[in-house]
Amino acid sequence: MCGIVGATAERRVAGILLEGLRRLEYRGYDSAGMALASEQGLQQIRRVGKVQALADALDETGINGKSGIAHTRWATHGGVTEANAHPHFSNGTLAVVHNGIIENHETLRRKLQGLGYEFLSQTDTEVISHLMHHELEKGVSLLDALKATVKQLEGAYGTVIMDKRYPGELVVARSGSPLVIGLGIGENFIASDQLALLPVTREFMYLEEGDVASVTRDAVTIFDVDGQEVTREVVTSDLQYDAGGKGEYRHYMLKEIHEQPFAVRNTLEGRVNGDKVLVNAFGEEAEAIFKDVKHVQIVACGTSYHAGMVARYWLEQYAGVSCNVEIASEFRYRKSHVFPGSLLVTISQSGETADTLAALRLAKTLGYRSTLTICNVATSSMVRESDLSFLTRAGAEIGVASTKAFTTQLAGLLMLVAALGRYNGVDRDVEARIAHALSTLPNHLEAALKITQEIEALAEEFADKEHSLFLGRGEQYPIAMEGALKLKEISYIHAEAYAAGELKHGPLALIDAEMPVIVVAPNNELLEKLKSNVEEVRARGGIMYVFADRDAEFASDETMRVINLDHVDELVAPIVYTLPLQLLSYYVAIIKGTDVDQPRNLAKSVTVE
Ligand code: G6P
Repeated sequence: MCGIVGATAERRVAGILLEGLRRLEYRGYDSAGMALASEQGLQQIRRVGKVQALADALDETGINGKSGIAHTRWATHGGVTEANAHPHFSNGTLAVVHNGIIENHETLRRKLQGLGYEFLSQTDTEVISHLMHHELEKGVSLLDALKATVKQLEGAYGTVIMDKRYPGELVVARSGSPLVIGLGIGENFIASDQLALLPVTREFMYLEEGDVASVTRDAVTIFDVDGQEVTREVVTSDLQYDAGGKGEYRHYMLKEIHEQPFAVRNTLEGRVNGDKVLVNAFGEEAEAIFKDVKHVQIVACGTSYHAGMVARYWLEQYAGVSCNVEIASEFRYRKSHVFPGSLLVTISQSGETADTLAALRLAKTLGYRSTLTICNVATSSMVRESDLSFLTRAGAEIGVASTKAFTTQLAGLLMLVAALGRYNGVDRDVEARIAHALSTLPNHLEAALKITQEIEALAEEFADKEHSLFLGRGEQYPIAMEGALKLKEISYIHAEAYAAGELKHGPLALIDAEMPVIVVAPNNELLEKLKSNVEEVRARGGIMYVFADRDAEFASDETMRVINLDHVDELVAPIVYTLPLQLLSYYVAIIKGTDVDQPRNLAKSVTVE
C-alpha cells in the first residue's frame, strides 16, 4: 500500500506533492513525509498522522524545492513513528520512497551493516536507501545504481529515489506495485495512482512490471526487465477526480452510498437493451470465450469477495454453470483443481490488490480457458492482464469502506450471469428477466435510500454494543457478511455474519439482549425458513432488527424492530438490501465518532500481501 508522488519541474513542487498525497491518502494514512531538493541540498520533513500534519509542518518550515518525492504510509515493517515514515535517507544525500515489501530485507540489512551503514528505522525500505548509496559509490549513474540495486531485491516494490548529486532527476522502479509517470511541459511527475497527478497532467505512461526509469524535467528514459530501452504508450486520461469533494455530504462514504443509483445507472448504460445484455461489455472476445465456459472460478478479497459469493448463487441458479469462490490470499498459495472450460474471474475495485493480482497471474499458468476481471479502474494491472474485462464505471471511490464499487460489481456480475446463461442453453426468458430487473434497479436503489431517517434512529441502539450478529440465507447470506464487514470496519463493533440455518450449530449460544441480531429478509422462497430462524433467536431473548420486504409480513414488537423495504425481484434484492446495511454502519460510526472515511489500521488499496 502507501501512496507515492514525485515531481521534477521549473517551479516549486511542495504544493503539487502535497495535493497528490491528499488524493492518495486512501492508500494509507498513518504517517507522511517529503524530501525536496533546493539550494540547501536535500531537505526532509516527516510527520506521524495524516497528510494534514505534514501540510502544517510544511507551512511552519517553509521548505520547498523544484524536485521532490513524497509518501503517505500504511505501516507494514516497523511501527507508526516519525523514524519509520518515508522518505528514508542514506548519508543525508539520497532519499527513497517505497511501496511494497522487500522480503529479503533482513539479509540485506546485515550485509549493509557489515559495510558500515547505520540504520535509523525498522523499515524494510531503508535497505533500498543504503543499497543505492553503496552502488552510487562505485561511480555509476543514478539509473545504473538503481538497476544494480533492484537485482538484489526480492519482494514487491514501487520505488522513487532522488540524490542531491543528481539535481532534477528521479529514478523509479516498478515490480509488484503500480507506478505511473505523468508528462507535463518542461516538468514530469510520478505517482502510484494517476489520481494524484490529475491537477497537473492528463498524459500518462504506465510502467510495466520490471521497468526502471529515469525521469527529468524534459526526458523519460525507460528500461524493461531485460535491460532493453523501451517506450511506453502515452495514454490521455479522461478520469474525473471527484472535483466537488464531499459536496453536501459529511463524508465520502455517505456521498458514495447516495451515489449508488447513479453509479449503477452508469454501469448499465448502453449495456442492457430491452430483453438482452450486451455481451461485448466484457470485451470483443467475450462471445467466443463464453461459449466454451463450463465452470467459473471467482477470486477476490474483502468486499469484492462478497460480490463473488453472491455471484456463485446466481451463476449456479440462473446460468447453469458451476462456480467456486475463493479468497485470493488462500487461492494463490494452494494447489487447486482446474475444471475443464473454466473461466477465472477476478473482482476488484482497484484492480491492484496484491493477492488478487497474484491469483490472476497464477491462474494464467494453470490452464484456465480464459480470464475476466470485473473492475472499477480501466488502467489497472488486472484489467490490463486479463483476457476480458468489465468496467464497473462507479467513479472514484474514496471512502475506505467500499460501497458503490460493491453494488456496481453486483450489477456487472448479474450481466455475466445472463451472458453465460445465454451460451449455456438457459431459457432466454431468464436473460430477459435479468435485463428487466437491472433496468429498474436504480429506481429501487433510490427508494431504499429513503429510509435513511429510520436507520439513523436505529443506529442509536447499536452505539453502546460490543458485538452483533448478521443473518441471511441464500444470496442474502453474503449480503449479511458484507453488512457485518461494513459495521466492523467503520464502527469497530465486532460483527459476525452467519447463514441463518447455521445458527443452531453454535452462534445461538451467544444470543442475549446485549447482542443485536440483524436479519436480511427479502420475500423469497427461503422466507419461511428464515422466519423459523427468527423465532429461534426470539426464544433466547435476542433483540432483532429485521430488514424485510413489505410483503413478508414481519411485525415490530418488543423483541423485533422491522424496517420495511419495497418489494423487488429477488434477483436484485441482494443489491437493494445492501444499502440499508451500509447506512446502518455509517450512522453507528457517526454516533461513535470514528474516522468514517479512513478507519483505523485499514487502507483502501492493499497492494502488499
Ligand atoms: C481493502 C479495502 C476493501 C476492499 C478490499 C479489496 O481491504 O479496504 O474495501 O474490498 O481491499 O479491494 P479491491 O480493490 O480488490 O476490491
